[in-house]
Amino acid sequence: MKFSSLLTGALMMGSAIAGAITNTDAVPADSSASLDKVVLPITTANSRGASAIEPKVITKVIMDKANDVLTSTPLAGLKRHRRRTPSTSSIEPRALPPLRWPYANSAVKIRGVSLGGWLVVENFITPSIYGQTNNPHIIDEWTFGSLQPRSTAIRILQQHLNSFMSEDDIRQIAAAGLNHVRIPIGYWAFEVGNGEPFLKLNQWELLKTAVGWCAKYGLKVLIDLHAAPGNQNGFDHGGRRGVNAWAGNATNVQRTVNILQTMSREFSQPKYASSVTALELLNEPVTDRNVVLDFYQRAYEVVRYPNGRSSPPSPLLVVVGDEFINPAFSDYWNDKLRPPTYEAVSIDSHIYTIFDDNALRLSSQDRINYYCSLKPKWAAANNVHWQMVGEWTPAFTDCAGGINGRNRGSRYDGSLKGSRGRINSCAQRSGDASTFTAKYKRLLGSMWEAQVDANEGGIGWLMWTWKTEAKAAEDWSYQKGLQYGWIPRDPTKRPNGIRC
Ligand SMILES: *[C@@H]1O[C@H](CO)[C@@H](O)[C@H](O)[C@H]1NC(C)=O
Repeated sequence: MKFSSLLTGALMMGSAIAGAITNTDAVPADSSASLDKVVLPITTANSRGASAIEPKVITKVIMDKANDVLTSTPLAGLKRHRRRTPSTSSIEPRALPPLRWPYANSAVKIRGVSLGGWLVVENFITPSIYGQTNNPHIIDEWTFGSLQPRSTAIRILQQHLNSFMSEDDIRQIAAAGLNHVRIPIGYWAFEVGNGEPFLKLNQWELLKTAVGWCAKYGLKVLIDLHAAPGNQNGFDHGGRRGVNAWAGNATNVQRTVNILQTMSREFSQPKYASSVTALELLNEPVTDRNVVLDFYQRAYEVVRYPNGRSSPPSPLLVVVGDEFINPAFSDYWNDKLRPPTYEAVSIDSHIYTIFDDNALRLSSQDRINYYCSLKPKWAAANNVHWQMVGEWTPAFTDCAGGINGRNRGSRYDGSLKGSRGRINSCAQRSGDASTFTAKYKRLLGSMWEAQVDANEGGIGWLMWTWKTEAKAAEDWSYQKGLQYGWIPRDPTKRPNGIRC
């Protein structure tokens, strides 16, 4: 999870920004005016510069963009970011390798959810995993594996892995009219290096098992490498909060490429023809852009040609995270990863509007207008690469326990250190959905609806996340939305009448 993009790139966060912001330190709460302009050091793939980039700095960069979009009259600023739409003649025809889902058919949209918090544990999704350690210093999977007896860690994690998702979840997802599932997995499912305390249990076997369930219920699967050696973003869901040591270490980058080749070799096989359709190279990298681009190009090669150039290419869609450089607002991707060298590439943008003090203060109408303003931008971006919104949430507060990191507070109620001050109480905003008022549920429904409508401007969407532990972060749960009615049982319906 987490998020992403500031408002896609911008406000977000979600995971990125969101995520980014989410997992990183509190953003200095001040308005854009006081944010420092921070320039990411650009280094080469062999330099060590990236490892020195702290999440806080990255957050500022992202927030600077977010604020660019949102300050003063929140939505008026969007105009400044009008993206130049390439003229049709400047777009080379995209080659279409034989894919397993009609991503090129604009009448067919991705509608899906991530199985967040399962193979990669997230504190805010299953707080009991960390709570039962009785150790406040255990804040991510790295400390989970290093700050308690190994046998205890294995017992707790194994129990979680074997029970948090089941075939019945997949059945329910299909019954809700969804067609895709995004499954995050961490590198430690494949190998752990010396001194890395991550627990390699049966995550890889479970991934293949879940893919089998999806095949049975007709769901397509996007596999997402969520955490790479060294951590590519510094968020807790990258494995180790506050550490960003992937890009600065060529060994770590190579290990990542190798894992992607292993996954492509597996899932390109014909036995997965009815299930696995896409492979995301890396979730939410927030680091040296040159290293990321070089990595994307090398990873593309081994994913598209997992058995070498003399064997047939893979039928998997290659999905790349936008690094919070959102194609809705930036031309950055227009000349990268393009045909004829790179075929069937999709850009994944993550949209969160809850990891920034300004964004949290948007009125509901402005928030809906913001989401809707993205629809034509996604459509324009889709002329260049297949554009998906692979993470977003109906939640419009950061009240979910631990969403900003374990044992941190929320900006919304001012309890997060560094936040600008209380907007309102977090009571009945997250946690147990049975406490939500009818009005609040209607608002969650409107946020769901606006984003679904907007995000179908591109090739579609995957909401974060399918489920959460009982009574935790239920405003983020698709399953609870169905149960309590803020999400319709048919995702093509617009019960609140919102059409962007
Ligand atoms: C780079 O990462 C590898 C593990 O992948 C580690 O063994 C090595 O010490 C790291 N190098 C540096 C300079 O940190």
